[in-house]
Amino acid sequence: MTQSPKACVIGNPISHSLSPKLHGYWLKRYGLPGEYTALQVTEGDLEETLRMLPSQGFVGVNVTLPHKVEVLQYADQITDRATLIGAANTLTFKEDGRIFADNTDGYGFISNLRQGAPDWDPKSGPAVIFGAGGAARAVIVALADAGVPEIILTNRTRAKAEALRADFGARIRVVDWVQAGSVLEDANVVINTTSLGMKGAAEFKVSLDALRPETVVTDIVYNPLRTPFLKAAEKVGCTTVDGLGMLLHQGVPGFERWFGKRPEVDEETRQAVLA
Ligand code: ATR
Repeated sequence: MTQSPKACVIGNPISHSLSPKLHGYWLKRYGLPGEYTALQVTEGDLEETLRMLPSQGFVGVNVTLPHKVEVLQYADQITDRATLIGAANTLTFKEDGRIFADNTDGYGFISNLRQGAPDWDPKSGPAVIFGAGGAARAVIVALADAGVPEIILTNRTRAKAEALRADFGARIRVVDWVQAGSVLEDANVVINTTSLGMKGAAEFKVSLDALRPETVVTDIVYNPLRTPFLKAAEKVGCTTVDGLGMLLHQGVPGFERWFGKRPEVDEETRQAVLA
C-alpha cells in the first residue's frame, strides 16, 4: 500500500508558521489523505534534512526564514521565477529524490491583490514599493510580470534599493525614503514590504496624505490584519488589501502539486487560518 503523502514547512523559528493550519484545513476540507507538519531546522542541518525527508514519505516542503536563499543550492531544477527572485519557498521531491524548487511568493502576492482589488489594472500606472528585502524581490518580479509600467522603490537603506534596480533593470526608479510621500500621488498601487507595523516592530511613519482614493494599497504584514499603514490608506478612501491572502495564495501551488487538488482561497480559508 502506498503511504499517504506528507509535506511540511521548514524554518527556524517555526512555531509561528500558519502553514500547518492552512494545509491541514485544505486536507480536511477536500477529504484528502495526507499530513502537513512544521519542522524546525537549523542552518547546519538544512542539507541533511532535505536529503532525508523523501525517504520518510515527504513529497515536498515549504521553506521559510532563514533558508529561502540557501535551499537553492540543493535544488536540481529551479523555476524561472525562483531564479529571478533568488530564493525558493516551495520544494517538491521527485520520485528519484531530486529537488524541484519554486518560489510562489510573488504569485501569492499578485493573486491576493487581484482577488482583493478586482478592478485594479496593473498596466494603468506606477507601483510604489516600500522596502527592498527578500519580500520586495518577489513583489517586483510579480508586478513586472503583470505588466506594471514603472516601479518606484524606496527603502530606508537606499543602497539596497539601488542594488535591486541593478538586478531588475530600468523599469525601477529609486527615491529616497524621506521623499517617498511625494511620489504617492502618482501611484496606481502602493505596497509595504517592510516589517514596519508588524506586532512588536517599529511603526510606519511615512505620511500617506498624498495618496489618491483611486490607489490600491496593500501590506505584506498580516499581524495585525489591519496595519496602521492600511488604516491610513482607508482614511483616504483607498481600496486596501491585507497581507494574509498572500500567505494563503502562496500555498496553493505546493498543495496542488503534493496533494493533487487545487485549493480555494476564500473567506472560509481565512477564518480557518485565523481561528
Ligand atoms: P524580508 O526578506 O522579509 O523582506 P528583510 O530583508 O529583513 O526582510 O527586509 C526588511 C525590510 O524592512 C527592509 O527593506 C528594511 O529596510 P533596510 O533595508 O533599511 O534595513 C525594512 N525595515 C525594517 N525595519 C525598518 C525601520 N525601522 N525603518 C524603515 N525600514 C525598515
